[in-house]
Amino acid sequence: MSSALRPLLPRFGARAAVSVSTPRVTSRVPMVTNNIYRGYSTNSDAKKSGNGTLLFLGLAALGGAGGYYYHNSTQSIKTPSITEAKTKSVDYNQVYKDIAELLDEDSDYDDGSYGPVLVRLAWHASGTYDKDTKTGGSNGATMRFKPESTHGANNGLAIARDLLEKIHAKYPNISYGDLWTLAGVCAIQELGGPTIPWRPGRQDAISAQSCTPDGRLPDATKKEDHARHIFYRMGFNDQEIVALLGGHSLGRCHPDRSGFVGPWQEAPTMFTNEYYKALAERKWIKKDLDNGGWQYVDKNNTDVMMLPIELDMYHDKGFKKYFDLYAKDENKFFEDFAKAFKKLIELGVPFKGDEKVYVFPKTTE
Ligand code: HEM
Repeated sequence: MSSALRPLLPRFGARAAVSVSTPRVTSRVPMVTNNIYRGYSTNSDAKKSGNGTLLFLGLAALGGAGGYYYHNSTQSIKTPSITEAKTKSVDYNQVYKDIAELLDEDSDYDDGSYGPVLVRLAWHASGTYDKDTKTGGSNGATMRFKPESTHGANNGLAIARDLLEKIHAKYPNISYGDLWTLAGVCAIQELGGPTIPWRPGRQDAISAQSCTPDGRLPDATKKEDHARHIFYRMGFNDQEIVALLGGHSLGRCHPDRSGFVGPWQEAPTMFTNEYYKALAERKWIKKDLDNGGWQYVDKNNTDVMMLPIELDMYHDKGFKKYFDLYAKDENKFFEDFAKAFKKLIELGVPFKGDEKVYVFPKTTE
């Protein structure tokens, strides 16, 4: 990893030591290797090309195969009844600890932590939810299957899924949806973010028939109305949208995944409100990218970036008050982020209501 970044990036603590104005990121982003320029999703809305009919036909064909079913308006996921019985034996506290161990096992990966890409996996698994059709969401973990695994928005997430296979091999009874969301919670907490209560209950889909169509995740090249369209579809309001966007205090953009380049601020492995401060306090200028696209960069440190949609969102009257609030008040950001992220990872999950809610202690405490 970058030696210039490393001192700024302790896995734990030291959040107060972050400096926003001076440090320079010596970017270790890979060279642009191809011509892609993907805002995020490859196709806009998909709801209409939906999978409901296919899914229904597929499940009708599977019907009566002795499994455990749950239903809602258009989505049904068949799960063998044994899965439900087995989940009771998973030691989720130990799963959390094992994931925490994995986070910084490869100091050469990105900025020294797998945390950010695990957060993105949890978000992309969950952010496909459509409240009207009640399809998508983390239940089912449908990103294991093509075509969802190959949707442009999910570029690079095989790294996170493959990494978690090690944990799944050790705890075969955990569902992938539970594993991915727990990993997101673990990464946020371990990188200094808020505590997020988590509960099990997701069941694995058994085939690609449950995949969500492309276009349900946001496209970074679009405008603030697109962000509203995508997040309102999941059931979020403006305040929750801005709180969730603070996930970009972690990680970076990769030319070979999204086509954008760089982190949002200089300490991408520390969960803080620096993202909001960067938006509010810096001068952002447009920069053309080699792949034909463009992004914003900080005039005083062109290694840090903002996506086109983020500046549009920041300048939107409805959103701006929340961006400014979180720039000033990190505690409020943590509180609102924790609530919104919990809501995100629970969208569409068929909880029975008696699941144990886990509040995992950080391994650093
Ligand atoms: C308008 C909404 C959003 C857009 C357009 C967007 C777009 C993007 C893009 C283009 C990347 C770069 C991917 C890459 O090249 O590796 C990215 C990364 C990331 N996103 Fe988002 N995102 C949005 C919302 C969110 C939300 C709600 C979260 C979590 C709560 C989140 C968490 C992350 C994280 C942690 C990364 C870094 C991944 C890594 O370092 O590997 N994003 N996002």
